[in-house]
Amino acid sequence: MDNLELLPLGKTIPVEPGSSLQDVLFVHGVEFPCGGGGRCKGCRIKVLAGSLPVTEADRARLSAAELAQGWRLACQARAQGDLKIELAQWEAAILADDSSFEFTPQPGLGIAVDLGTTTLVAQLLDLATGRVLAVRAELNAQARHGADIMSRVEFAVAGRSGRVLESQVRQQIGRLIRELLLAASSGAAAPPAPGTPASAGSGAAGPPPGGPSAFSSCQLPATPRLNRVVLVGNTVMHHLFCGIDLEPLSHYPFEPVSPGLRVFQAEELGWPLPGNPPVYFLPCLGGFVGSDILAGLLATRLHEAQLPAALIDLGTNGEIVVGNRQRLLCASTAAGPAFEGARISNGMRAATGAISEVRLESGQLRCRVLGHGQARGICGSGLVDAVAAGLDLGSILATGRLAKGDSFPVTPRVSLTQQDIRQLQLAKGAIAAGLRLLLRQWGAAPDQLDRIYLAGAFGNYINYTSARRIGLLKFPPHKVRPAGNTALLGAKLALFDAPQHNGAYPRLRAKIRHVPLNEDPNFQDAFVQEMTFP
Ligand code: FES
Repeated sequence: MDNLELLPLGKTIPVEPGSSLQDVLFVHGVEFPCGGGGRCKGCRIKVLAGSLPVTEADRARLSAAELAQGWRLACQARAQGDLKIELAQWEAAILADDSSFEFTPQPGLGIAVDLGTTTLVAQLLDLATGRVLAVRAELNAQARHGADIMSRVEFAVAGRSGRVLESQVRQQIGRLIRELLLAASSGAAAPPAPGTPASAGSGAAGPPPGGPSAFSSCQLPATPRLNRVVLVGNTVMHHLFCGIDLEPLSHYPFEPVSPGLRVFQAEELGWPLPGNPPVYFLPCLGGFVGSDILAGLLATRLHEAQLPAALIDLGTNGEIVVGNRQRLLCASTAAGPAFEGARISNGMRAATGAISEVRLESGQLRCRVLGHGQARGICGSGLVDAVAAGLDLGSILATGRLAKGDSFPVTPRVSLTQQDIRQLQLAKGAIAAGLRLLLRQWGAAPDQLDRIYLAGAFGNYINYTSARRIGLLKFPPHKVRPAGNTALLGAKLALFDAPQHNGAYPRLRAKIRHVPLNEDPNFQDAFVQEMTFP
Protein backbone atom coordinates (compact mmCIF):
# COMPACT_ATOMS: atom_id res chain seq x y z
CA MET A 1 0.00 0.00 0.00
CA ASP A 2 1.08 3.55 -0.73
CA ASN A 3 0.12 6.58 1.35
CA LEU A 4 -1.83 9.46 -0.15
CA GLU A 5 -1.85 12.62 1.95
CA LEU A 6 -4.63 15.08 1.14
CA LEU A 7 -4.29 18.79 1.83
CA PRO A 8 -5.93 20.95 3.04
CA LEU A 9 -7.73 18.13 4.87
CA GLY A 10 -4.53 16.87 6.46
CA LYS A 11 -5.81 13.30 5.97
CA THR A 12 -3.64 10.35 4.92
CA ILE A 13 -5.26 7.39 3.19
CA PRO A 14 -3.73 4.07 2.10
CA VAL A 15 -4.06 3.37 -1.64
CA GLU A 16 -3.28 0.34 -3.80
CA PRO A 17 -0.36 1.09 -6.14
CA GLY A 18 -1.75 1.80 -9.61
CA SER A 19 -5.26 2.66 -8.43
CA SER A 20 -7.12 5.47 -10.15
CA LEU A 21 -7.01 8.73 -8.21
CA GLN A 22 -10.48 9.49 -9.52
CA ASP A 23 -11.89 6.47 -7.68
CA VAL A 24 -9.91 7.19 -4.53
CA LEU A 25 -10.72 10.90 -4.35
CA PHE A 26 -14.37 10.57 -5.28
CA VAL A 27 -14.98 8.73 -2.03
CA HIS A 28 -13.56 11.77 -0.22
CA GLY A 29 -15.98 14.21 -1.83
CA VAL A 30 -13.90 15.42 -4.79
CA GLU A 31 -15.98 16.35 -7.84
CA PHE A 32 -15.10 15.39 -11.40
CA PRO A 33 -17.11 17.94 -13.36
CA CYS A 34 -16.52 16.48 -16.86
CA GLY A 35 -16.87 12.94 -15.57
CA GLY A 36 -13.12 12.35 -15.64
CA GLY A 37 -12.83 13.12 -19.34
CA GLY A 38 -9.74 15.32 -18.95
CA ARG A 39 -11.56 18.30 -20.48
CA CYS A 40 -12.46 20.70 -17.65
CA LYS A 41 -9.47 21.09 -15.30
CA GLY A 42 -12.00 20.97 -12.44
CA CYS A 43 -10.16 18.09 -10.75
CA ARG A 44 -6.71 19.77 -10.68
CA ILE A 45 -4.35 18.63 -7.96
CA LYS A 46 -0.91 19.90 -7.04
CA VAL A 47 1.76 17.35 -6.21
CA LEU A 48 3.60 18.60 -3.13
CA ALA A 49 5.65 15.45 -2.46
CA GLY A 50 6.21 12.34 -4.58
CA SER A 51 5.63 12.43 -8.31
CA LEU A 52 2.98 11.84 -10.95
CA PRO A 53 3.95 11.56 -14.62
CA VAL A 54 2.59 14.18 -17.03
CA THR A 55 -0.13 12.69 -19.24
CA GLU A 56 -1.33 13.79 -22.70
CA ALA A 57 -4.46 15.31 -21.16
CA ASP A 58 -2.30 17.18 -18.62
CA ARG A 59 -0.27 18.64 -21.48
CA ALA A 60 -3.41 19.61 -23.39
CA ARG A 61 -5.14 21.32 -20.47
CA LEU A 62 -2.39 22.74 -18.27
CA SER A 63 0.21 25.38 -19.08
CA ALA A 64 3.94 24.64 -18.99
CA ALA A 65 4.19 26.78 -15.83
CA GLU A 66 1.40 24.81 -14.15
CA LEU A 67 3.01 21.49 -15.06
CA ALA A 68 6.33 22.71 -13.72
CA GLN A 69 4.66 23.68 -10.44
CA GLY A 70 3.32 20.14 -10.08
CA TRP A 71 -0.28 20.57 -11.25
CA ARG A 72 -1.94 17.45 -12.71
CA LEU A 73 -5.46 16.33 -13.59
CA ALA A 74 -6.53 13.89 -10.88
CA CYS A 75 -8.89 12.08 -13.23
CA GLN A 76 -5.97 11.06 -15.42
CA ALA A 77 -3.60 9.97 -12.66
CA ARG A 78 -2.81 6.66 -11.03
CA ALA A 79 -1.20 6.33 -7.61
CA GLN A 80 2.52 5.55 -7.71
CA GLY A 81 4.45 5.58 -4.46
CA ASP A 82 3.67 7.87 -1.55
CA LEU A 83 2.08 11.15 -2.56
CA LYS A 84 1.15 14.43 -0.92
CA ILE A 85 -1.34 16.45 -2.93
CA GLU A 86 -3.38 19.59 -2.60
CA LEU A 87 -6.79 19.96 -4.21
CA ALA A 88 -7.55 23.17 -6.10
CA GLN A 89 -11.25 22.28 -5.94
CA TRP A 90 -11.41 22.53 -2.17
CA GLU A 91 -9.69 25.88 -2.28
CA ALA A 92 -12.33 27.12 -4.69
CA ALA A 93 -15.13 25.76 -2.51
CA ILE A 94 -14.05 28.12 0.25
CA LEU A 95 -15.63 31.48 -0.38
CA ALA A 96 -13.02 34.14 -1.19
CA ASP A 97 -13.86 37.64 -2.36
CA ASP A 98 -13.38 39.47 -5.63
CA SER A 99 -15.67 42.44 -5.04
CA SER A 100 -14.91 45.95 -6.18
CA PHE A 101 -14.18 48.56 -3.56
CA GLU A 102 -13.00 52.12 -3.24
CA PHE A 103 -9.64 52.88 -1.71
CA THR A 104 -6.86 55.42 -1.49
CA PRO A 105 -3.85 54.07 -3.40
CA GLN A 106 -0.59 53.74 -1.47
CA PRO A 107 2.69 52.01 -2.20
CA GLY A 108 3.43 48.49 -1.04
CA LEU A 109 1.56 45.28 -0.37
CA GLY A 110 -0.98 44.18 2.20
CA ILE A 111 -2.45 40.87 3.27
CA ALA A 112 -6.05 40.40 4.46
CA VAL A 113 -7.00 37.24 6.35
CA ASP A 114 -10.46 35.95 7.20
CA LEU A 115 -9.82 33.50 10.03
CA GLY A 116 -12.97 31.40 10.24
CA THR A 117 -13.74 28.56 12.62
CA THR A 118 -13.74 26.06 9.73
CA THR A 119 -11.84 27.75 6.94
CA LEU A 120 -9.34 30.51 6.46
CA VAL A 121 -8.82 32.66 3.41
CA ALA A 122 -5.92 35.04 2.80
CA GLN A 123 -5.42 37.49 -0.06
CA LEU A 124 -2.32 39.45 -1.02
CA LEU A 125 -3.09 42.91 -2.39
CA ASP A 126 -1.10 45.48 -4.27
CA LEU A 127 -2.09 48.57 -2.29
CA ALA A 128 -1.30 50.87 -5.23
CA THR A 129 -3.84 49.25 -7.55
CA GLY A 130 -6.10 47.36 -5.15
CA ARG A 131 -5.55 44.20 -7.17
CA VAL A 132 -5.51 40.82 -5.54
CA LEU A 133 -2.15 39.28 -6.46
CA ALA A 134 -2.67 35.89 -4.86
CA VAL A 135 -5.24 33.95 -2.85
CA ARG A 136 -4.85 31.03 -0.46
CA ALA A 137 -7.68 29.17 1.26
CA GLU A 138 -7.50 26.19 3.59
CA LEU A 139 -9.41 24.41 6.28
CA ASN A 140 -8.48 25.85 9.68
CA ALA A 141 -5.85 23.48 11.10
CA GLN A 142 -7.53 23.74 14.52
CA ALA A 143 -10.68 22.09 13.13
CA ARG A 144 -9.42 18.68 14.20
CA HIS A 145 -9.93 19.86 17.80
CA GLY A 146 -13.64 20.59 17.35
CA ALA A 147 -15.91 21.76 14.59
CA ASP A 148 -17.63 24.62 16.40
CA ILE A 149 -16.40 27.44 18.59
CA MET A 150 -17.62 25.99 21.89
CA SER A 151 -15.80 22.70 21.37
CA ARG A 152 -12.68 24.74 20.52
CA VAL A 153 -13.17 26.71 23.78
CA GLU A 154 -13.63 23.47 25.70
CA PHE A 155 -10.47 21.97 24.19
CA ALA A 156 -8.52 25.10 25.09
CA VAL A 157 -9.89 25.54 28.62
CA ALA A 158 -10.52 22.01 29.92
CA GLY A 159 -7.45 20.56 28.21
CA ARG A 160 -5.32 23.65 28.96
CA SER A 161 -4.43 23.56 25.28
CA GLY A 162 -4.94 27.16 24.27
CA ARG A 163 -1.24 27.40 23.43
CA VAL A 164 -1.49 24.42 21.09
CA LEU A 165 -4.31 26.07 19.16
CA GLU A 166 -2.52 29.43 19.19
CA SER A 167 0.66 28.01 17.74
CA GLN A 168 -1.22 25.90 15.18
CA VAL A 169 -3.08 28.84 13.75
CA ARG A 170 -0.11 31.22 13.85
CA GLN A 171 2.05 28.68 12.03
CA GLN A 172 -0.62 28.00 9.45
CA ILE A 173 -1.22 31.67 8.66
CA GLY A 174 2.54 32.35 8.61
CA ARG A 175 2.96 29.57 6.02
CA LEU A 176 0.06 30.91 3.93
CA ILE A 177 1.60 34.38 3.95
CA ARG A 178 4.91 32.98 2.69
CA GLU A 179 3.04 31.03 -0.01
CA LEU A 180 1.13 34.15 -1.07
CA LEU A 181 4.32 36.14 -1.46
CA LEU A 182 5.98 33.30 -3.38
CA ALA A 183 2.95 32.66 -5.60
CA ALA A 184 2.70 36.31 -6.56
CA SER A 185 6.42 36.69 -7.22
CA SER A 186 6.40 33.58 -9.45
CA GLY A 187 3.33 34.81 -11.35
CA ALA A 188 1.27 31.86 -10.14
CA ALA A 189 -1.33 33.88 -8.32
CA ALA A 190 -4.65 32.11 -7.83
CA PRO A 191 -7.23 33.76 -10.06
CA PRO A 192 -10.49 34.75 -8.38
CA ALA A 193 -13.89 34.39 -10.00
CA PRO A 194 -15.24 37.30 -12.06
CA GLY A 195 -16.89 40.04 -9.99
CA THR A 196 -18.83 43.24 -10.24
CA PRO A 197 -17.69 46.41 -12.00
CA ALA A 198 -15.67 48.89 -10.01
CA SER A 199 -17.29 52.10 -8.86
CA ALA A 200 -15.75 55.54 -8.95
CA GLY A 201 -13.42 56.73 -6.22
CA SER A 202 -9.86 57.72 -5.65
CA GLY A 203 -9.12 54.13 -6.61
CA ALA A 204 -11.34 51.16 -7.40
CA ALA A 205 -10.33 47.55 -7.25
CA GLY A 206 -11.88 44.61 -9.00
CA PRO A 207 -10.95 41.79 -11.34
CA PRO A 208 -8.68 42.91 -14.14
CA PRO A 209 -10.34 43.57 -17.50
CA GLY A 210 -8.91 40.47 -19.10
CA GLY A 211 -10.53 38.16 -16.56
CA PRO A 212 -8.84 35.28 -14.77
CA SER A 213 -6.27 34.49 -17.45
CA ALA A 214 -4.96 38.06 -17.42
CA PHE A 215 -5.00 37.85 -13.64
CA SER A 216 -2.70 34.87 -13.51
CA SER A 217 0.04 36.95 -15.09
CA CYS A 218 0.02 39.48 -12.21
CA GLN A 219 3.50 40.05 -10.85
CA LEU A 220 4.76 41.62 -7.68
CA PRO A 221 5.57 45.32 -8.03
CA ALA A 222 9.27 46.01 -8.69
CA THR A 223 10.10 46.77 -5.05
CA PRO A 224 7.64 44.71 -3.03
CA ARG A 225 7.22 45.69 0.57
CA LEU A 226 4.66 44.07 2.80
CA ASN A 227 3.23 47.04 4.70
CA ARG A 228 0.80 45.26 6.97
CA VAL A 229 -1.39 42.24 7.60
CA VAL A 230 -5.00 42.58 8.80
CA LEU A 231 -6.90 39.66 10.33
CA VAL A 232 -10.56 39.35 11.19
CA GLY A 233 -12.42 36.51 12.87
CA ASN A 234 -14.97 35.65 15.50
CA THR A 235 -14.23 36.28 19.17
CA VAL A 236 -12.87 32.79 19.82
CA MET A 237 -10.54 32.97 16.80
CA HIS A 238 -9.42 36.45 17.95
CA HIS A 239 -8.56 35.13 21.42
CA LEU A 240 -6.86 31.98 20.16
CA PHE A 241 -4.70 33.84 17.67
CA CYS A 242 -3.83 36.63 20.10
CA GLY A 243 -3.03 34.30 23.00
CA ILE A 244 -5.85 35.61 25.24
CA ASP A 245 -7.34 33.38 27.92
CA LEU A 246 -10.58 31.79 26.70
CA GLU A 247 -11.81 30.90 30.16
CA PRO A 248 -14.26 33.89 30.42
CA LEU A 249 -15.91 32.68 27.22
CA SER A 250 -16.55 29.22 28.67
CA HIS A 251 -19.26 30.28 31.16
CA TYR A 252 -21.97 32.83 31.83
CA PRO A 253 -22.03 35.76 30.94
CA PHE A 254 -19.76 34.65 28.05
CA GLU A 255 -18.17 38.08 27.81
CA PRO A 256 -14.62 38.52 26.53
CA VAL A 257 -12.29 40.46 28.82
CA SER A 258 -9.88 41.67 26.13
CA PRO A 259 -11.85 42.06 22.91
CA GLY A 260 -9.92 45.05 21.54
CA LEU A 261 -7.63 45.66 18.59
CA ARG A 262 -4.38 43.69 18.87
CA VAL A 263 -1.20 44.78 17.16
CA PHE A 264 1.86 42.56 16.73
CA GLN A 265 5.09 42.76 14.81
CA ALA A 266 5.49 39.79 12.46
CA GLU A 267 8.56 38.53 14.35
CA GLU A 268 6.58 38.23 17.59
CA LEU A 269 4.35 35.73 15.82
CA GLY A 270 7.29 33.73 14.51
CA TRP A 271 6.87 35.10 10.99
CA PRO A 272 10.24 36.07 9.52
CA LEU A 273 8.85 38.52 6.96
CA PRO A 274 10.90 41.21 5.21
CA GLY A 275 10.60 44.53 7.03
CA ASN A 276 8.94 42.88 10.08
CA PRO A 277 5.53 44.44 9.21
CA PRO A 278 2.77 45.10 11.76
CA VAL A 279 -0.05 42.58 12.06
CA TYR A 280 -3.48 43.77 13.22
CA PHE A 281 -6.31 41.63 14.54
CA LEU A 282 -9.36 43.90 14.39
CA PRO A 283 -11.47 44.25 17.58
CA CYS A 284 -14.50 42.15 18.49
CA LEU A 285 -17.91 43.72 19.02
CA GLY A 286 -18.72 41.77 22.19
CA GLY A 287 -19.81 38.32 23.33
CA PHE A 288 -19.43 35.98 20.40
CA VAL A 289 -19.70 38.76 17.82
CA GLY A 290 -16.25 39.20 16.38
CA SER A 291 -14.37 41.41 13.95
CA ASP A 292 -15.68 39.27 11.09
CA ILE A 293 -18.98 41.05 11.64
CA LEU A 294 -17.27 44.44 12.11
CA ALA A 295 -15.62 43.79 8.74
CA GLY A 296 -19.01 42.75 7.33
CA LEU A 297 -20.42 46.13 8.29
CA LEU A 298 -17.55 47.91 6.56
CA ALA A 299 -18.17 45.75 3.49
CA THR A 300 -21.95 46.20 3.28
CA ARG A 301 -21.86 49.83 4.50
CA LEU A 302 -24.84 49.06 6.62
CA HIS A 303 -23.61 51.72 9.03
CA GLU A 304 -24.18 54.34 6.32
CA ALA A 305 -27.70 53.18 5.39
CA GLN A 306 -30.61 55.55 5.84
CA LEU A 307 -33.26 52.84 6.23
CA PRO A 308 -32.86 50.02 8.71
CA ALA A 309 -31.18 46.91 7.36
CA ALA A 310 -29.75 43.67 8.73
CA LEU A 311 -26.58 41.64 8.26
CA ILE A 312 -26.86 37.95 9.16
CA ASP A 313 -24.13 35.34 9.19
CA LEU A 314 -25.93 31.99 9.06
CA GLY A 315 -23.30 29.83 10.70
CA THR A 316 -23.07 27.45 13.63
CA ASN A 317 -22.62 30.63 15.64
CA GLY A 318 -25.24 32.88 14.03
CA GLU A 319 -24.30 36.57 14.15
CA ILE A 320 -26.83 39.32 13.50
CA VAL A 321 -26.63 43.11 13.19
CA VAL A 322 -29.59 45.45 12.66
CA GLY A 323 -29.67 49.20 12.32
CA ASN A 324 -28.72 52.08 10.12
CA ARG A 325 -26.38 55.07 10.12
CA GLN A 326 -27.77 56.31 13.41
CA ARG A 327 -27.26 53.24 15.56
CA LEU A 328 -26.66 49.52 15.33
CA LEU A 329 -27.35 46.53 17.55
CA CYS A 330 -25.53 43.20 17.27
CA ALA A 331 -25.95 39.78 18.84
CA SER A 332 -24.94 36.16 18.45
CA THR A 333 -27.13 33.12 18.75
CA ALA A 334 -26.17 29.44 18.85
CA ALA A 335 -27.77 27.98 15.72
CA GLY A 336 -26.00 24.61 15.78
CA PRO A 337 -24.49 22.92 12.74
CA ALA A 338 -27.63 21.95 10.75
CA PHE A 339 -27.01 24.65 8.10
CA GLU A 340 -23.67 22.95 7.40
CA GLY A 341 -25.34 19.55 6.99
CA ALA A 342 -23.88 18.34 10.29
CA ARG A 343 -25.84 16.34 12.90
CA ILE A 344 -28.28 15.40 10.13
CA SER A 345 -28.54 11.63 9.61
CA ASN A 346 -27.83 11.82 5.86
CA GLY A 347 -26.14 15.20 6.13
CA MET A 348 -22.86 16.09 4.44
CA ARG A 349 -20.95 19.14 3.35
CA ALA A 350 -21.66 20.62 -0.09
CA ALA A 351 -19.49 18.18 -2.07
CA THR A 352 -19.95 15.52 -4.75
CA GLY A 353 -23.07 13.49 -4.13
CA ALA A 354 -24.77 16.08 -1.90
CA ILE A 355 -28.35 17.07 -2.66
CA SER A 356 -28.02 20.84 -2.87
CA GLU A 357 -31.47 21.73 -4.19
CA VAL A 358 -34.92 20.18 -3.89
CA ARG A 359 -37.92 21.38 -5.93
CA LEU A 360 -41.53 20.30 -5.96
CA GLU A 361 -42.84 19.66 -9.49
CA SER A 362 -46.36 18.29 -9.97
CA GLY A 363 -46.29 16.86 -6.47
CA GLN A 364 -42.94 15.09 -7.03
CA LEU A 365 -39.58 15.98 -5.47
CA ARG A 366 -36.82 16.84 -7.95
CA CYS A 367 -33.27 17.02 -6.62
CA ARG A 368 -30.07 18.57 -7.85
CA VAL A 369 -27.06 16.51 -6.85
CA LEU A 370 -23.60 18.11 -6.86
CA GLY A 371 -21.45 16.32 -9.44
CA HIS A 372 -24.64 14.99 -11.11
CA GLY A 373 -24.14 11.47 -9.77
CA GLN A 374 -26.09 9.45 -7.24
CA ALA A 375 -27.18 11.26 -4.11
CA ARG A 376 -24.99 10.31 -1.13
CA GLY A 377 -26.44 12.78 1.35
CA ILE A 378 -27.90 16.25 1.77
CA CYS A 379 -26.18 19.57 2.51
CA GLY A 380 -27.63 22.63 4.28
CA SER A 381 -29.27 24.30 1.27
CA GLY A 382 -30.86 20.98 0.23
CA LEU A 383 -32.12 20.45 3.77
CA VAL A 384 -33.90 23.84 3.82
CA ASP A 385 -35.46 23.10 0.39
CA ALA A 386 -36.49 19.58 1.40
CA VAL A 387 -38.25 20.73 4.57
CA ALA A 388 -39.98 23.54 2.63
CA ALA A 389 -41.20 20.94 0.10
CA GLY A 390 -42.28 18.60 2.93
CA LEU A 391 -44.37 21.43 4.41
CA ASP A 392 -46.00 22.13 1.03
CA LEU A 393 -46.78 18.43 0.59
CA GLY A 394 -48.25 18.19 4.07
CA SER A 395 -45.72 15.48 4.94
CA ILE A 396 -44.22 17.77 7.61
CA LEU A 397 -46.57 19.62 9.95
CA ALA A 398 -46.16 23.18 11.25
CA THR A 399 -45.04 21.75 14.59
CA GLY A 400 -42.20 19.96 12.78
CA ARG A 401 -43.73 16.54 13.31
CA LEU A 402 -43.86 14.10 10.44
CA ALA A 403 -47.45 13.57 9.33
CA LYS A 404 -46.88 9.83 9.07
CA GLY A 405 -44.08 7.35 9.40
CA ASP A 406 -40.70 8.04 10.91
CA SER A 407 -38.94 9.60 7.94
CA PHE A 408 -39.48 11.87 4.94
CA PRO A 409 -37.86 10.32 1.83
CA VAL A 410 -36.08 12.82 -0.41
CA THR A 411 -34.59 10.16 -2.74
CA PRO A 412 -34.63 6.36 -2.40
CA ARG A 413 -31.31 6.61 -0.49
CA VAL A 414 -31.65 9.91 1.36
CA SER A 415 -34.38 10.74 3.82
CA LEU A 416 -34.98 13.08 6.73
CA THR A 417 -35.78 11.75 10.18
CA GLN A 418 -37.82 13.47 12.86
CA GLN A 419 -34.55 14.34 14.59
CA ASP A 420 -33.16 15.96 11.41
CA ILE A 421 -36.19 18.21 11.15
CA ARG A 422 -35.78 19.09 14.84
CA GLN A 423 -32.15 20.11 14.22
CA LEU A 424 -33.24 22.48 11.46
CA GLN A 425 -35.97 23.89 13.72
CA LEU A 426 -33.38 24.60 16.41
CA ALA A 427 -31.13 26.39 13.92
CA LYS A 428 -33.81 28.47 12.28
CA GLY A 429 -35.52 29.16 15.63
CA ALA A 430 -32.30 30.60 17.06
CA ILE A 431 -31.71 32.92 14.09
CA ALA A 432 -35.33 34.04 13.72
CA ALA A 433 -35.71 34.65 17.48
CA GLY A 434 -32.44 36.60 17.63
CA LEU A 435 -33.47 38.77 14.72
CA ARG A 436 -36.93 39.35 16.17
CA LEU A 437 -35.58 40.48 19.55
CA LEU A 438 -32.89 42.70 18.05
CA LEU A 439 -35.48 44.39 15.83
CA ARG A 440 -37.75 44.91 18.81
CA GLN A 441 -34.94 46.51 20.81
CA TRP A 442 -33.96 48.66 17.87
CA GLY A 443 -37.59 49.75 17.43
CA ALA A 444 -38.43 48.48 13.96
CA ALA A 445 -40.93 45.95 12.62
CA PRO A 446 -39.55 43.20 10.33
CA ASP A 447 -41.30 44.70 7.31
CA GLN A 448 -39.47 47.99 7.88
CA LEU A 449 -36.15 46.34 7.02
CA ASP A 450 -35.00 47.65 3.68
CA ARG A 451 -32.32 44.99 3.04
CA ILE A 452 -31.19 41.76 4.59
CA TYR A 453 -27.57 40.92 3.75
CA LEU A 454 -26.52 37.30 4.15
CA ALA A 455 -22.83 36.82 4.84
CA GLY A 456 -20.87 33.63 4.22
CA ALA A 457 -21.10 30.58 2.00
CA PHE A 458 -24.43 29.23 3.20
CA GLY A 459 -26.07 32.62 2.66
CA ASN A 460 -24.78 32.50 -0.90
CA TYR A 461 -26.40 29.19 -1.79
CA ILE A 462 -29.63 29.06 0.22
CA ASN A 463 -32.89 29.44 -1.71
CA TYR A 464 -34.66 32.49 -0.23
CA THR A 465 -38.14 31.26 -1.13
CA SER A 466 -37.49 28.05 0.82
CA ALA A 467 -35.93 30.05 3.67
CA ARG A 468 -39.13 32.09 3.82
CA ARG A 469 -41.31 28.99 3.65
CA ILE A 470 -39.68 27.49 6.74
CA GLY A 471 -39.81 30.83 8.58
CA LEU A 472 -36.04 31.37 8.68
CA LEU A 473 -36.14 34.65 6.73
CA LYS A 474 -39.65 36.06 6.67
CA PHE A 475 -38.94 38.66 4.04
CA PRO A 476 -39.81 39.01 0.36
CA PRO A 477 -36.91 37.36 -1.51
CA HIS A 478 -36.10 40.61 -3.37
CA LYS A 479 -35.04 42.21 -0.08
CA VAL A 480 -32.51 39.47 0.68
CA ARG A 481 -29.00 39.88 -0.76
CA PRO A 482 -26.15 37.38 -0.73
CA ALA A 483 -23.21 39.49 0.40
CA GLY A 484 -20.40 36.92 -0.11
CA ASN A 485 -17.36 36.82 2.12
CA THR A 486 -17.97 40.19 3.78
CA ALA A 487 -15.38 39.42 6.46
CA LEU A 488 -12.60 39.22 3.88
CA LEU A 489 -13.78 42.28 1.98
CA GLY A 490 -13.93 44.25 5.23
CA ALA A 491 -10.41 43.12 6.13
CA LYS A 492 -9.20 44.35 2.73
CA LEU A 493 -10.86 47.72 3.31
CA ALA A 494 -9.14 47.94 6.69
CA LEU A 495 -5.78 47.33 4.96
CA PHE A 496 -6.13 50.71 3.29
CA ASP A 497 -7.47 52.38 6.37
CA ALA A 498 -4.43 52.33 8.67
CA PRO A 499 -6.08 50.36 11.50
CA GLN A 500 -3.84 51.89 14.17
CA HIS A 501 -5.11 55.40 13.44
CA ASN A 502 -8.57 56.86 13.07
CA GLY A 503 -9.85 54.67 10.28
CA ALA A 504 -13.51 53.96 9.66
CA TYR A 505 -13.87 51.06 12.05
CA PRO A 506 -13.28 52.83 15.43
CA ARG A 507 -16.09 55.30 14.57
CA LEU A 508 -18.23 52.43 13.42
CA ARG A 509 -17.54 50.41 16.54
CA ALA A 510 -18.65 53.32 18.71
CA LYS A 511 -22.09 53.20 17.06
CA ILE A 512 -22.72 49.52 17.81
CA ARG A 513 -24.18 48.10 20.98
CA HIS A 514 -23.84 44.41 21.75
CA VAL A 515 -27.03 42.79 23.05
CA PRO A 516 -26.47 39.64 25.12
CA LEU A 517 -29.49 37.60 24.02
CA ASN A 518 -28.85 35.05 26.77
CA GLU A 519 -29.86 37.75 29.28
CA ASP A 520 -33.07 38.70 27.48
CA PRO A 521 -36.01 37.21 29.44
CA ASN A 522 -38.04 37.03 26.21
CA PHE A 523 -35.51 34.96 24.30
CA GLN A 524 -36.73 31.53 25.37
CA ASP A 525 -40.36 32.28 24.46
CA ALA A 526 -39.36 33.80 21.14
CA PHE A 527 -37.12 30.82 20.39
CA VAL A 528 -39.89 28.29 21.10
CA GLN A 529 -42.36 30.25 18.94
CA GLU A 530 -39.88 30.58 16.09
CA MET A 531 -39.15 26.87 16.10
CA THR A 532 -42.55 26.16 14.55
CA PHE A 533 -42.99 26.45 10.80
CA PRO A 534 -45.34 29.06 9.30
S1 FES B 1 -12.77 15.79 -14.27
FE1 FES B 1 -12.63 17.16 -15.90
S2 FES B 1 -10.48 17.25 -16.24
FE2 FES B 1 -10.65 15.81 -14.67
